[in-house]
Amino acid sequence: MTVVGGDDAAAAPGRGQTVCVTGAGGYVGSWIVKLLLERGYAVRGTVRNPDDAKNAHLRALPGAAERLALCKADLLDYDALRAAVAGCHGVFHTASPVTDDPEEMVEPAVTGTRYVIDAAAEAGTVRRVVLTSSIGAVAMDPNRAPDAVVDESCWSDLEFCKKTKNWYCYGKAVAEQASWEAAAARGVDLVVVNPVLVQGPALQPTVNASLMHVLKYLNGSAKTYANAVQAYVHVRDAADAHVRVFEAPHAAGRYICADAVLHREDVVRTLRKFFPDYPVPERCSDEVNPRKQPYKISNQKLRDLGLEFTPAAQALYDTVICFQEKGIIPIPAPTPSPEPDQA
Ligand SMILES: NC(=O)c1ccc[n+]([C@@H]2O[C@H](COP(=O)([O-])OP(=O)(O)OC[C@H]3O[C@@H](n4cnc5c(N)ncnc54)[C@H](OP(=O)(O)O)[C@@H]3O)[C@@H](O)[C@H]2O)c1
Repeated sequence: MTVVGGDDAAAAPGRGQTVCVTGAGGYVGSWIVKLLLERGYAVRGTVRNPDDAKNAHLRALPGAAERLALCKADLLDYDALRAAVAGCHGVFHTASPVTDDPEEMVEPAVTGTRYVIDAAAEAGTVRRVVLTSSIGAVAMDPNRAPDAVVDESCWSDLEFCKKTKNWYCYGKAVAEQASWEAAAARGVDLVVVNPVLVQGPALQPTVNASLMHVLKYLNGSAKTYANAVQAYVHVRDAADAHVRVFEAPHAAGRYICADAVLHREDVVRTLRKFFPDYPVPERCSDEVNPRKQPYKISNQKLRDLGLEFTPAAQALYDTVICFQEKGIIPIPAPTPSPEPDQA
């Protein structure tokens, strides 16, 4: 995607448009804000506490001084969301609890999503709402055939999510359903992005849930890896997807945002190859069952919008470099060169 540096936003696609990003200080939200500022938009970012030091990185983004305003809004506070969305041309609704606690997850996700659609309808100026849903709303289906391709027509099985106490996936699926219903009822143009597990550098200072997935393999807390598969996408591509579906007039429906599905064994192998000095586990926790096979997934809709996905291995690599740069893991000391008489 073409970007403009600093505040040189003269020829930028977002020039003269104001958009609201909920959950602006989060991992994915921060990258969406960064890209929108680079493309010349004025951004209203909602955060729960604008004065919290964890949101300071947003004010340091290029263009932020001129075109970023932070607004305080909880997902359960309709008036605050309405004020943030009023007068905007677009809304990126990315805020959501990320937890498997059913009480913390489901109600704020569903009510917040309905409130955002209502606020967009009430504003009367919003051209499109882009919702950050999840692969969790798509792929949790135990009855899918092993060779079936996961695409935008798939929905997670809510009973299965409940039975397995996967309240994050349950909450994301129910929130996405609620958003489609509310958008249809209120005449709001809604487009949904369904990212898979997002990796790559964090702009925010804290380690969010998706980055813990890799951190545990580097800091010694995971002694084994699971017999499990997962789809991965680079955080820059996740942000790019959101902005693309907002800007493409003909974009519609859901968009799966994924590069590749990897077994954990592939993940630890990649980490060990690039970073041999960390205690990356070598043993699978399941030595009994056959190795789980990666499922097939389609990212065709986003590729049709011109998105070229970064390889998942690069996303993993960039994640580790980010941990090193932020001091979250130590940078291994260089191996001393052998003494001349030992050479
Ligand atoms: N990262 C992934 O792998 C991944 C994959 C698929 C989909 N997603 C989706 O992407 C979105 C962002 O996730 P993330 O990974 O960037 O997680 P994150 O860093 O934890 O960000 C979540 C954001 O949501 C906000 N939030 C949570 N509960 C809230 C509430 N009750 N009221 C207002 N704001 C609230 C948080 O605000 P505070 O800063 O105030 O806590 C934070 O800004 C979520 O919708 C998530 O489901 C993420």
